Amino acid sequence: MSKNLIIAIDGPAGSGKSTTAKLVAKRLNYLYIDTGAMYRAVTLFVLRNNLMGKTDDIIEFANSLNIVLSFIDGETNITVNGEDVSKEIRSFEVNSNVSEISCIEGVRKILVKKQQEMGKNGGVVMEGRDITTVVYPNADVKIFLTAGIDERAERRAKEFFEKGTDVPIDKVKENLKNRDFIDSNREASPLTKTPDSIEVDTSNTTIEEQVELILDQVKIIADKKRN
Ligand code: DC
Repeated sequence: MSKNLIIAIDGPAGSGKSTTAKLVAKRLNYLYIDTGAMYRAVTLFVLRNNLMGKTDDIIEFANSLNIVLSFIDGETNITVNGEDVSKEIRSFEVNSNVSEISCIEGVRKILVKKQQEMGKNGGVVMEGRDITTVVYPNADVKIFLTAGIDERAERRAKEFFEKGTDVPIDKVKENLKNRDFIDSNREASPLTKTPDSIEVDTSNTTIEEQVELILDQVKIIADKKRN
């Protein structure tokens, strides 16, 4: 299998991107890059510094942050200015504010540049909302993952529960719908499926099926590249 392909995965919150992308990366021995974690890290620091709503300050502040993303023991690890914030970026408060931060074009520019740098040698599975459209429009494999809102809400509620927060399912659903709307309708790089992306609906597939489907595509492309 080719060692230097770029696999781009986009889709709404709770569509199974992280779980699928992690497993695909593991099977290929590729680097897994969770770009959402970077938007979450900026959001956490903006909240801590009471900067919500102050766009210019947020951009300047985001530029000053030293964000380092890595993958340790099968999990995304993220530090900001040396502090490990891998757990804190998953809080309900960050979930509720991250869409607002990711609408800011100046913040996106800073993070997209870092992401392009991280994937430049290939051998990566990168997931987010604008990977197939902006970060890597020429990615070798482009996947758009979807799932029904009920299924996605159940998955997210379970994640919160497993992390010790019991958020009522209606609240999780409302939060997801709100994020779906903002992520898909914002001016800066909205979430869209490109015509050359393969759509995979994960409502009724197992994780293993999703992973196999993507690996099949990778194999087809890798074979084509070799010939
Ligand atoms: O994938 P996630 O739920 O961790 O992403 C958190 C938020 O970050 C999501 O609501 C939209 C934003 N995001 C984005 O705008 N672009 C990306 N490439 C990744 C995430």
